[in-house]
Amino acid sequence: AFVVTENCIKCKYTDCVAVCPADAFYEGPNFLAISPIDCIDCGLCVPECPAEAIYQEDELPEDQKEFTELNAELALVWPRIVEVKPAPDEADQWNGVANKLKLIET
Ligand code: SF4
Ligand code: F3S
Repeated sequence: AFVVTENCIKCKYTDCVAVCPADAFYEGPNFLAISPIDCIDCGLCVPECPAEAIYQEDELPEDQKEFTELNAELALVWPRIVEVKPAPDEADQWNGVANKLKLIET
């Protein structure tokens, strides 16, 4: 499956959901998760993300590997999102900021 990683946190542009043929995205307060049950591994979402936050599970950077489990867990409890919505006001300021994991809201 594909995995949403740390740079989505507080960016949450949601462009990814518009192209997903499997409706595999689930929405939390400041992060989106991909369900590994729904994802069909098409890769269409990867180039859509302005934060470059989506990776194929097997190609995750070493420091992002914990997001595989996090996506799976959060997708089970969050509601599905299928339509793009406006990004948070300060999304662009948070794009690229390191160590955002502690800021994730669940
Ligand atoms: Fe959806 Fe394809 Fe991205 Fe999986 S890889 S989340 S199916 S767009
Ligand atoms: Fe997050 Fe990128 Fe989608 S910032 S909401 S994974 S477009």
